[in-house]
Amino acid sequence: MSSEPVNVNDFKELARNALPKIYYDYYAGGAEDEHTLRENIQAFHRITIRPRVLVDVSQIDMSTTILGYPISAPILLAPTSAHKLAIPEGELATARAAAAANTIMILSYSSTCSMEEVASSCNAVRFFQLHISKRRDISALLVQRAERFGYKAIVLTADTPRLGRREADIRNKMIGFPVKNLEGLMSIDVESDQGSKLEAYYNELLDASIRWEDIGWLRSITNLPILIKGILTHEDATKAVEAGVDGIIVSNHGARQLDFAPATVSVLEEVVDAVKGKVAVLLDGGVRRGTDVFKAVALGAQAVLIGRPVLFGLAAKGEGGVRTVLEMLKNELEISMALSGCPCIKDITRSHVRTPYDKLP
Ligand code: FNR
Repeated sequence: MSSEPVNVNDFKELARNALPKIYYDYYAGGAEDEHTLRENIQAFHRITIRPRVLVDVSQIDMSTTILGYPISAPILLAPTSAHKLAIPEGELATARAAAAANTIMILSYSSTCSMEEVASSCNAVRFFQLHISKRRDISALLVQRAERFGYKAIVLTADTPRLGRREADIRNKMIGFPVKNLEGLMSIDVESDQGSKLEAYYNELLDASIRWEDIGWLRSITNLPILIKGILTHEDATKAVEAGVDGIIVSNHGARQLDFAPATVSVLEEVVDAVKGKVAVLLDGGVRRGTDVFKAVALGAQAVLIGRPVLFGLAAKGEGGVRTVLEMLKNELEISMALSGCPCIKDITRSHVRTPYDKLP
């Protein structure tokens, strides 16, 4: 692509050109047949918007709050690993872009800059994403460090008792990268004939025996709000509320875990209905347009998270690329709101979208 990017999808092509194939594939790929990867996007395409006209849209206000923290638009940065594979500054650049956009960055457990480094370079509101590992003492230490360094919530990833089979990584013999937050705490040396080395590494690290009861353990070691990431059914949404979480992220891990898990936007309403407004519901997976953000909000999400678009922006144009990605989505959301007759986020309602499951009025 010779011209400047005009939408978030254009950044994917730029990133493909900028990155070594092994890293591009790591960022872009999904599990097995990548059915869910395609569906995350396609499911948004099957939802239409029902615009209202002759509403005063001369002022559009996209601002909202998450757990009481004001943000400029309902678009957060999803936790994604290994930003140093994109550019040497890694997560520090991403964090500055999040701060400039006045939104929240969720720092990955598997970041390539430590949570302390990110905290000292960024005054934006940050959450910390946690995997509960076999070594509970190390998980507890990470939570304490997150608290001490000003992270405002713990995002517990629940869909990764083991790493999904990402065949591009297996073919490329993706070897992994140092998880900076674990430096000096544990070292894992693995060999693997079956999957990628990355898969073997995480399967050593992750605790496949974690259960709902462990939310109680997490609650007992921190006063921070807890969001649970990776909920896709009303059954689990109900359990999450009962377990006392402060929020739910409807997510299939960007289709990198269980292939044939449903597209996230197709199950959003099921989760929202089960939660009955008791806790915040957010969504990630396949958000590439402002209209996608609009649709998710209409179906009851307080906000969305974006994963790959951030990585592609970072790989293509560094901090500026991430800023541009966020600006593009915000600009698109703004015009979607104007053209749908919704001056504020709270004006976007269920009746502004039609899904394939809706009856015609
Ligand atoms: C992820 N995701 C992820 N999730 C998580 O809880 N911890 C992590 O460390 C990572 N790492 C990670 C790396 C890469 C390269 C990708 C693409 C994704 C999942 C992420 O938080 C989010 O759920 C998805 O990326 C959302 O889908 P989109 O926006 O990428 O389609």
